Amino acid sequence: MATAARRRFCRCACFCSQNLYVARYGLHLRFRDEQQLRRDYGPLLRSRGCVSSKDFQQLLEELEQEVGRRRRLGPESAARKALIASTYHPARPDVYCSLQDAALAPEFVAAAEYSGSPGADLEGLLQQLEIVSEEKRIYRVPVFSAEFCQALLEELEHFEQSDMPKGRPNTMNNYGVLMHELGLDEPLVTPLRERFLQPLLALLYPECGGGQLDSHRAFVVKYALGQDLELGCHYDNAELTLNVALGKAFTGGALYFGGLFQAPAALMEPLEVNHVVGQGILHRGGQLHGARPLGTGERWNLVIWLRASAVRNRLCPMCCQKPELVDDEGFGDGFTREESAVVDSGCQKRNPGSGTKGNKDNYTRTDERSKHKARRTTRSSSSSSSSSSSSSASSSSSSDGRKKHGKHKDKKKRKKKKRKKKLRRKAKEKAVVVHPAEALPGPSLDQWHRSAGEDNDGPVLTDEQKSRIQAMKPMTKEEWDARQSVIRKVVDPETGRTRLIKGDGEVLEEIVTKERHREINKQATRGDGLAFQMRAGLLP
Ligand SMILES: [Fe+2]
Ligand SMILES: [Zn+2]
Repeated sequence: MATAARRRFCRCACFCSQNLYVARYGLHLRFRDEQQLRRDYGPLLRSRGCVSSKDFQQLLEELEQEVGRRRRLGPESAARKALIASTYHPARPDVYCSLQDAALAPEFVAAAEYSGSPGADLEGLLQQLEIVSEEKRIYRVPVFSAEFCQALLEELEHFEQSDMPKGRPNTMNNYGVLMHELGLDEPLVTPLRERFLQPLLALLYPECGGGQLDSHRAFVVKYALGQDLELGCHYDNAELTLNVALGKAFTGGALYFGGLFQAPAALMEPLEVNHVVGQGILHRGGQLHGARPLGTGERWNLVIWLRASAVRNRLCPMCCQKPELVDDEGFGDGFTREESAVVDSGCQKRNPGSGTKGNKDNYTRTDERSKHKARRTTRSSSSSSSSSSSSSASSSSSSDGRKKHGKHKDKKKRKKKKRKKKLRRKAKEKAVVVHPAEALPGPSLDQWHRSAGEDNDGPVLTDEQKSRIQAMKPMTKEEWDARQSVIRKVVDPETGRTRLIKGDGEVLEEIVTKERHREINKQATRGDGLAFQMRAGLLP
């Protein structure tokens, strides 16, 4: 059976299980199931006012709803796109024609042509761009002609005023248009990326995948009085970003840039960059940035998140881990996996034109089936993320397995002491890895929470990312005390031992009755023995 590999676009499972914002408790939560929620956040939630079982049930329902909403986003977006394609009448059909050089600024065409020519180098290219910041590697270049900006704006406004269904660009922007839903990906954004941006960015940002771009997410954001005015600090779910000001007339709204989100002092001395209509700002997706409040007028910007699967397949920029791939619509979130074109021969015969680009238009019954599979994967991947965190718990008990019976008493004692010490160290490591940010309500985090709004499937900083940035700043005494005051019950799933962990990992001794103490010891010994036997392959 022939099995030519084809590429499928995916998202990372973290999209549906992490960074779930609950405004009334001021918390971003990771959520898999009730048990995990109670275990990971019980004390913290109580300290934030989630006290009664009714409170907890309400929270559970909200989280389940939000996860469901996130899972439905892809199919709902595909449905909107289909409806728009079949019923919407554009005001400016010319913008839907395949991208012509005339729509572009001559400087942009020249820079792209130079970049693709033999012998082109960075130094030569930089002479054709405006270097906004050499240190931050932010550049400016005219992108569209004034006429094209005008035509595109007319079309976008016409769509905005129509009764067509509209998806939000992301959860930080409430007004604007998703370019793929409007049908502008194929004629406009894809050729812009493939023919012009790719050669240019290959020279500007080779290490960020500038030469390996294979997908994008493009949207237009609109700022106006009475609508969105500003944009909180965030970084983009993209390797690289192009942000083009389309108009109209406005004051304020400047972009500001800090450092890379992974870097220390990431928000020190932000650099302000004013928009120039028709011109685009190029920056790395990981560069922290935001937009100052609009003063007057209306501001429309086309934002293109450029993605290179070769880069992001190694590390998801949102959870900062190797992505857990889940099949998705269209370009997904730019991750890819190779899949065998032949799932079963009958199916392939029914769908000979089965797509190779992960495009919704190529959606087939084979795809439908892998979608079902994906749903299952989503669930199992969520649980596998739990097992990945519990794998550190099981590694913490690995020393338990070394326990040997029938040896001298003092040797046993020494071992027990050593084991306890090791456990403490491991528990400390685990506590830091699993719950880095829950008890870190510093002022800068509040600012992020405010800017994050009510839901967070957009490019908002996740708790892990915030804590990483926060961790680079010295903690105040209050923050430290708050962090250390949280006591959690940690269950080692392998041995069944329950430990009380305080703050960063101090193992607390529980005061219990004599009988309970005996019972705990019995259970732990049984668990240790079982764990050892399992590792040694003595159990079936
Ligand atoms: Fe952004
Ligand atoms: Zn992720």
